[in-house]
Amino acid sequence: MKTILVTGGAGFIGSAFVRRTVEKYPDTTIVVLDKLTYAGNLDNLLPVHDAPNYHFERGDIAHRQTVQQIIERYGVEAIVNFAAETHVDRSILEPDAFIQTDVVGLYVLLDAARQMGVQRVHHVSTDEVYGSVAEGFFREGDVLEPNSPYAASKAGGEMMVRAYHVTYGLHTTVTRGSNTFGPYQYPEKLAPFFITEALDDRPLPLYGDGMQVRDWLYVDDHCDAIDAVLHRGAPGAIYNIGGEHELHNIEVTRFILRTLGKPESLIRHVADRPGHDRRYALTNDKIRAELSWTPQHTFEEAMVATVRWYQANEWWWRKIKTGEYLEYYKRQYAERLAGAGG
Ligand code: NAD
Ligand code: TYD
Repeated sequence: MKTILVTGGAGFIGSAFVRRTVEKYPDTTIVVLDKLTYAGNLDNLLPVHDAPNYHFERGDIAHRQTVQQIIERYGVEAIVNFAAETHVDRSILEPDAFIQTDVVGLYVLLDAARQMGVQRVHHVSTDEVYGSVAEGFFREGDVLEPNSPYAASKAGGEMMVRAYHVTYGLHTTVTRGSNTFGPYQYPEKLAPFFITEALDDRPLPLYGDGMQVRDWLYVDDHCDAIDAVLHRGAPGAIYNIGGEHELHNIEVTRFILRTLGKPESLIRHVADRPGHDRRYALTNDKIRAELSWTPQHTFEEAMVATVRWYQANEWWWRKIKTGEYLEYYKRQYAERLAGAGG
């Protein structure tokens, strides 16, 4: 592939993918298309800023003309779509942008790819499309029962990917990754939020009893799996990407606090998230068997490295935790923390 368009490449996982791909494939041109929403951040791409095979374009995947012009100008052969609204709590407060980007935007991207003969489209989806599972593990053929507006919009987008493959023969692949953590993650998701709050000795608002289970995947492993599927995945196929490390939220929180040398008294049990999925769990059987991919990092080693990164890179996250971020924090947490006596 001579030219890959990475949409949403200024976000957390997309930028990790770009940083790795620019270095791993020096003969491939990587073009990032990103709207730079509150979650998009050009600081994430500073390490590749001067690389000759990297280009950045600001724009919206839902804007057909923009997408078509970029495909034409750069001769795009493959698209990897990370662009999305991604935070469950924000989707509960305001679902509009989720439907606009995660469903309509993805449709525009697929349609432009079809019309302009793009050879491959890889779509980055999430384990949340399955809904919650009390026991056992989700497989790729399982029914989708999304529970939050975020999960529903991602599931809707996936249906459109399927239709473009079946109807038009577009070479598509989809991955459903589990909860991802690592450097450069916007500090609204559990790990970076709690790490940066704890660094300032602020209360950590744990929803409900904290016994919800998530499967934790290091960002480098997530990117390696996407790379494998992009290059070797079967047309029309869907692959789970699990971290193979299930933990209760309270265990993750305690691990972060221990790593930072901070007390557990910072934890506040606050009012739960509405519709909160109790457990996500995936099997990696398919991606292991077909593409020989397995996670290479242990949770412990990767989370310690992540915590150390936030400790060493205050320049990156302190400037984010201002302005719009504080407005969102107030909306999401002020009442909850007051109710918890925090
Ligand atoms: P993120 O919120 O950090 O980044 C999203 C990026 O998309 C931002 O740079 C944003 O500016 C850009 N964007 C948003 N709307 C856009 C639009 N209309 N046009 C162009 N760009 C737009 O997200 P992330 O955590 O890096 O997630 C990336 C992808 O991976 C998403 O599709 C998400 O659903 C999926 N995913 C995330 C996780 C996770 O735990 N973070 C797990 C599984 C799957
Ligand atoms: P999050 O990082 O938002 O990812 P997702 O909802 O996509 O799994 O949350 C991970 C888990 O942590 C989830 O069960 C909700 C919980 N959580 C809290 O308890 N408090 C918080 O402030 C946040 C952001 C999440």
